[in-house]
Amino acid sequence: MSLKTLSNLDDLTYYGKKVLVRVDFNVTIGKDNEIGEDYRIRMTIPTIEYLTKRGAKLILMSHLGRPKNTEEKKYKEEDKIQQYSISDIDIDIRKQFSLAPVAKRLSELIQVYNVSFIEDCIGSLVHKEIAKMERGDILLLENLRFYKGEELNDYNFSKELASLADIYVNDAFSVSHRKHASIYGATRLFDKKIAGLNLKKELEYLSMVKDCPVHPFVLVIGGSKIKDKIGALGNLLPKVDELLIGGAMAYTFLNANGVKTGDSPIDYDHFQWVKNALSTYNDKIYLPVDHIVTSQSFLDLKKGESQIKDKDKRNQGNDNSKFDLLSAIAPLSPSSLSSHSSPVSLNKGAIPDGLLGVDIGIETVQQYSSIISQNRNGMIVWIGPMGVFEIGLFRNGTNNIAKSMALAFWRGSKTIIGGGDTLSALKKAEVSELEVTHVSTGGGATLKFLAGYEMPGMEALNMVK
Ligand code: 3PG
Ligand code: MG
Repeated sequence: MSLKTLSNLDDLTYYGKKVLVRVDFNVTIGKDNEIGEDYRIRMTIPTIEYLTKRGAKLILMSHLGRPKNTEEKKYKEEDKIQQYSISDIDIDIRKQFSLAPVAKRLSELIQVYNVSFIEDCIGSLVHKEIAKMERGDILLLENLRFYKGEELNDYNFSKELASLADIYVNDAFSVSHRKHASIYGATRLFDKKIAGLNLKKELEYLSMVKDCPVHPFVLVIGGSKIKDKIGALGNLLPKVDELLIGGAMAYTFLNANGVKTGDSPIDYDHFQWVKNALSTYNDKIYLPVDHIVTSQSFLDLKKGESQIKDKDKRNQGNDNSKFDLLSAIAPLSPSSLSSHSSPVSLNKGAIPDGLLGVDIGIETVQQYSSIISQNRNGMIVWIGPMGVFEIGLFRNGTNNIAKSMALAFWRGSKTIIGGGDTLSALKKAEVSELEVTHVSTGGGATLKFLAGYEMPGMEALNMVK
C-alpha cells in the first residue's frame, strides 16, 4: 500500500498550521512516574522535529495502557459503559494512566522546543490551549482511552478530535491494527492526512519481510502465545528458509511431534494447526533438542523474586547483577541429567513429569546461534524470547540469540526484531538497538501486518473524506 508521507506535502503547507499527530506513547511508567523503555517516544522524534522545524503547531495524541479494564466492571453496574468520559474516571486511575510523565520525558529529549501537557484530549479547554500555541510549540493531550469513544471509534468523539487541527499525521504503526477513533474515525475526517516518518520506516522494513524477504531468510520465533502468531507464521512459513522455534510455544510443537514435554504448557486449542505446519514444513522447522527445566514451584519462587528485584531496581537505579547459569544448573554429566536434585537442570530430549521447560538448552543454543550468525547477506527476523528471560537463570538462550543477531548484523545480514519483549531481551543481553537493522515498535500490530491483515490506520490515510 503506498501512503503519502510528510515530504509529499510542500514545506509551506505546515507553516503556522495545527498538525494532529497520533503517536504511540504506550510505555511502561513506574510507581514513581519514571519511564521504563522509551524507544517508542524516541522513534517519534524525527517526525516531531520535521514538523516543528517547518513552523507547525504540533498536537500529539496517544493512549496509555488499558484504563477501561479496571473501570469497566464499575461502569457496567452503573450502566454507563457506552458513555464514560474523562470526568467519570476515578482520580486514581487518571493518575495511574496519565501521559503527564511522558510529556516530561519528551521535553527532556526535545530541548529546543516548548513541550506542554493538558489534562484532557477534547473540548473547550483543549481548544483554548491550542489557540495560545506559537509555531514550533508541542502540546501533548491526555490519554485518549479516558473516553470510551476512542475504542468504540465513536463518530462524535472522532469529530471532536478532528476539530483540533488542520492536518493529520499517523506516526503510530504499533496501534494501526486498531480501528479506534484517533487511528481511523478522526483520520477519515481530514482532507490532509499523511504517514509520519516512523510509520513509513516500519512499513518499509516490514513490507520487505512480508512481501520480498532477502534469502537466506531465517525466522526466529519464541514467546508463549501461539494464537497471536499463527497468522504471521502461516504467511511467512512458505517463504522462510529456516524457522527456529523457542520459548513456551516450542513445547506445543515438540508435543505435537510426539516428544514428552512434562509439565510444560501445551496449547491444545492450536494443536492441530501446529501438527499441520510440522507435516508441511518439517524440513525447515527447527525445534529445541535440549532444555533448561525446573519445577513450577521453583519458577514461581523466582518470578516472585524477580518482581521484587524490579521494584528495587526502580528505586535504586541500574541492575548490574550478573548471573552464572553454568554454576546454577546441575552439573552437565549424563548421570546428573536424570537426577533432579537441583531445582534447575539441563535436559536432553523428553522432559519428565513434574518439570517444565523454561529456556532452550545449551546444544540448542549452539545450533540456533550458528544458523543465525552464519547467515551472510540474508535476513533474520526475531520475534519473542527463547525462555523466561525476566529471570537471569533462564535467560541464557535469549541472550545468545540476541548476541548472534548482532554478529549477523555486523556480517551484513538484515536483522529485524519485533515485539516489546524482544527489545527488552536485547537490552538485557547488552546488545544495542543500533546493532539491529530495524527494531519494530509494534507487538500485536507487527504480527497482524506480517499476517497480511488489513490495517485500519493505514486504510484511513488513503480514504477520501
Ligand atoms: C501496544 O502496546 O501493543 C500498542 O500500544 C497497542 O496497545 P493495545 O494492545 O492496548 O491496543
Ligand atoms: Mg498490544
